[in-house]
Amino acid sequence: MKVAVFGIGYVGLVQAAVMAEVGHDVLCIDIDQNKVDRLKEGLIPIFEPGLTPLVKSNYEAGRIDFTTDAARGVEHGEVIFIAVGTPPDEDGSADLKYVLAVAETVATHMRSHKIVVNKSTVPVGTADKVKAKIAATLADSGKSVTYDVVSNPEFLKEGAAVNDCMRPDRIILGTDSEAAEKKLRELYSPFNRNHDKIIVMDIRSAELTKYAANCMLATKISFMNEMANLAEVFGADIENVRRGIGSDPRIGYQFIYPGCGYGGSCFPKDVQALARSATAAGYTARVLEAVEEVNYAQKEKLFEYISRHFSGDLKGKTVALWGLSFKPNTDDMREASSRVLMEKLWAAGASVKAYDPEAMEETQRIYGSRNDLTLMGTKEAALEGADFLVICTEWQAFRAPDFEMMKQKLSMPLLFDGRNLFEPKLMMEYGLHYYAIGRGLSVKGH
Ligand code: UDX
Repeated sequence: MKVAVFGIGYVGLVQAAVMAEVGHDVLCIDIDQNKVDRLKEGLIPIFEPGLTPLVKSNYEAGRIDFTTDAARGVEHGEVIFIAVGTPPDEDGSADLKYVLAVAETVATHMRSHKIVVNKSTVPVGTADKVKAKIAATLADSGKSVTYDVVSNPEFLKEGAAVNDCMRPDRIILGTDSEAAEKKLRELYSPFNRNHDKIIVMDIRSAELTKYAANCMLATKISFMNEMANLAEVFGADIENVRRGIGSDPRIGYQFIYPGCGYGGSCFPKDVQALARSATAAGYTARVLEAVEEVNYAQKEKLFEYISRHFSGDLKGKTVALWGLSFKPNTDDMREASSRVLMEKLWAAGASVKAYDPEAMEETQRIYGSRNDLTLMGTKEAALEGADFLVICTEWQAFRAPDFEMMKQKLSMPLLFDGRNLFEPKLMMEYGLHYYAIGRGLSVKGH
């Protein structure tokens, strides 16, 4: 099937690559010529396991191509995906200007029936706006061409995006057109094996499903972080509590890991966007607002521990920091807890020696060169000459460090762990003063 994908960001590129892999003829369109040129050379703009070979081999096989030529894109695709960004507005609501610009472009160039599929995460009601934009543009140019608009939200996780797209748990199709449903069932049939994963519904429910999924997961995390804070208050250990409640299958073990807050491109943005659109519709989404508030506070948790430990005097301290990305297996720093921590440390007069397996370039890009940030080539080098260590991201490579060496390199045997990687008892045996999230006595010091 001939497919066009507008927007070669995270969602667009991964979706395009897996569609090409199963044999569809995919053309990706982006306004960024440099990005297009680099992709043709096999240079992938994001770090995502498995994506580079997938894009390269399909490009070589002629199943995927990249262009800035929107007219060619519209001509090519029987099905046209919109996968452009929806960055938050100043007030946190999703900005639809890119989505609507693609709708207008599609309408400007279309000469036959098109199925326009929205993959971007957009507020409920956006499909109607896309429909209206296409209708108005067609009317302006006096064309009478038919089209369908479908909502087909993505559920991929960074770091596992290729697998999530190749083997989705569900494929949500929000549509009011039987013909569009039939076409998309055909498009997705290579991904719809074992059992039927396609769930068809009305467009608005599909749009809300995406937000509901992310907000539910964010709620689980903020809830656990609140429990972790209570565990500190009451001298309990949240890790025992986590195991205790996760064993109930109605609760489950997933997404109940307490830590220094959630980040990334989805949770913070989507919780905020749904809460804002609720307010705009005259409803106060109290749970969502609390989820957001708890997460803000949680991102400041590590700094609070550190500041309390040093009675607020951090001037001249050198802090080793392991983990900069918002989670492992990505170089994405969007809304990362490490950023809140570093910025607070700098403001307090401390400097940071940081290491991350993938996000060093991104950190450099965000912060440029500054005296109070040194990016080190290894996790060991980050410890050299530092006073104490903080861990913000649970990369596998941080799970079994050499604690003796850690103690030798740091000027103080002091570790702040934002991801609860170690057992407080073991840390005590190593002679390390260990702070973790919600681990009762360890937080109060021993
Ligand atoms: C998320 C959703 O999982 C995905 O389905 C959706 O399509 C996009 O948003 P992603 O942002 O890539 O994916 O990351 P995810 O693995 O969900 O982690 C998000 C954040 O939550 C990370 O900062 C992570 O550290 C944090 N997290 C996750 C916790 O703090 N505790 C947990 O138990 C799980």
